[in-house]
Amino acid sequence: MTHAQSAQLKELVRYGILAPSSHNTQCWPFHLEEQAISILPDLSRRCPVVDPDGHHLYVSLGCAAENILQAAKAQGLSGQVTFDDMSNGAVRISFTPCEVEATPLFEAIAQRQCSRTEYDGQPLTPEELALLTAAGTGAGVRVVMLTQPDLMKTVLDYVVKGNTAQINNPAFVKELKSWIRFNNSEAEQKGDGLSVSTSGNPSLPRWLGNLIFPLIFKAQPENEKYARQIRSSAGIAVFVSEHDDRAHWIEVGRCYERFALQSTALGIRNALLNQPVEEAGLRPNFAKVLGLETGRPDLVVRFGRGPKMPGSLRRSPEAVLV
Ligand SMILES: Cc1cc2nc3c(=O)[nH]c(=O)nc-3n(C[C@H](O)[C@H](O)[C@H](O)COP(=O)(O)O)c2cc1C
Repeated sequence: MTHAQSAQLKELVRYGILAPSSHNTQCWPFHLEEQAISILPDLSRRCPVVDPDGHHLYVSLGCAAENILQAAKAQGLSGQVTFDDMSNGAVRISFTPCEVEATPLFEAIAQRQCSRTEYDGQPLTPEELALLTAAGTGAGVRVVMLTQPDLMKTVLDYVVKGNTAQINNPAFVKELKSWIRFNNSEAEQKGDGLSVSTSGNPSLPRWLGNLIFPLIFKAQPENEKYARQIRSSAGIAVFVSEHDDRAHWIEVGRCYERFALQSTALGIRNALLNQPVEEAGLRPNFAKVLGLETGRPDLVVRFGRGPKMPGSLRRSPEAVLV
């Protein structure tokens, strides 16, 4: 590989790492090859409690793959994604030349964020909803858009059930806490994890954060916060895959990332509320009450217009190249 080719692929990795990942684990070393990038699963960054089957890890790899595909087009490269379930679990993107096209989705990559705040309660237009639906649909993955208040209330009921179960599970809380960055210097030093500032919470020294976290991270106030957030949203999107396997989880990630980029391009915010699909015991009933006759509900995403929140940090491209 020439120096110019490797510089071009590194530039694409720079866009890949801006993707969302579960708990901002950035569970993705990237390997550069001749005309290709492989995204490997970093099993040391898995979250076995919230993500026992590796679903979120592969959805995160799919999000990174989609960013790379969008950025590649802007450089005149068309990417082809392949996944071999029998090999090392890598998502491979190979490139061939194409017309240069800087899409609105590409332009949105650096602006996209999960905005964990209240939105303005206003509905979206049918055109906006149609654009989001188109962006969030893929091969064997559909997105169900819920805007009726009764259906959004049903989702809230399941968020509350899931959230209560998770907060009452010491293993879940321990895992979550290990990814919380209680202050800016901690967040900057690690370059990963959930910085408290992204949720609008104050910075604390680690010792104080450790002390306060169990006192404030309680089911009732968290559930009340989710109720306010859902009531302020224009709608909720549920991503559903036809088959419950890694190839489909990657496709879910690609669909969610396109949805998030399209919404960013339209000035619409989004945030995930995955409790109903993370708690495996709730998932079948959640699918049933929403009338989803087939498939696995993969992600639950609220959307609407609202303020921009502080951004989350990333490790450097050099730190994730292998
Ligand atoms: C598969 C997956 C699951 C996620 N689940 C949740 C969730 O349940 N709640 C939440 O607040 N954020 C969730 N997130 C968002 C991540 O925490 C977020 O992407 C990460 O902190 C980086 O922040 P950013 O997306 O604003 O760049 C999830 C992200 C992914 C990719």
